[in-house]
Amino acid sequence: MKSWTPSDRIVAPSVLAADFSRIGEECSRAIAAGADWLHLDVMDGQFVDNISFGPAMVGAVHATNDIFLDVHLMIARPDHYLPRFLEAGADLISVHVEPEADHDVAGSLAAIRTAGCRAGLAFNPATPLEEVLPYLDQIDLLLVMTVVPGFGGQAFMAEVMPKVEEAVRLREERGLAFHIEVDGGVDPQTARIAAGAGANVFVAGSSTFKAPDIRAAISAIREA
Ligand code: DX5
Ligand code: ZN
Repeated sequence: MKSWTPSDRIVAPSVLAADFSRIGEECSRAIAAGADWLHLDVMDGQFVDNISFGPAMVGAVHATNDIFLDVHLMIARPDHYLPRFLEAGADLISVHVEPEADHDVAGSLAAIRTAGCRAGLAFNPATPLEEVLPYLDQIDLLLVMTVVPGFGGQAFMAEVMPKVEEAVRLREERGLAFHIEVDGGVDPQTARIAAGAGANVFVAGSSTFKAPDIRAAISAIREA
């Protein structure tokens, strides 16, 4: 990444919606179609009710291409597993703020940055913005969940947009530069709503990997 400007429009296809039997080809397909980042959803069956993949998958994706890897940890004890994801080649790691994540949030963010990686902080639709406020000056990205995490293919929750708008306001007020990412149910229509609220990073699984024309889907989200 050359710059880190929150006005950049970034589309991050979520590999969770890819064909796992051909993961390398799927990543190449998304990259050739114009993906800016790849979003990797790590789920442990504890923090969320689903199990996806771990550091070995991040390492495998990293070994096959140079694209920016946006790793979203939906796991209990992220601090315990961080070194393995850093080692695997993550460019940005987001941890959750919820108590169920069971870690020292500031300590995890510091460990990510100390390793030379970008640090993201994620929070669920039901979690108020107040929970992330103490960390805004310690993050490179705020991940606003627009579905209850755990599964792809859910409907976008427009009711969380006031949190995006307020985060934009506070970022301005505090002179910060973190990106604002939305994740869950993002397609060209809902990306427009999120962009209007001030989000600039768009995670999209089903609407990219399962689209008839992935290039057109990525472009439509970027231009929403
Ligand atoms: C949900 C994950 C998302 C998911 C999005 O728990 O964090 O990244 O892959 O999938 P879609 O775009 O299908 O809603
Ligand atoms: Zn995600």
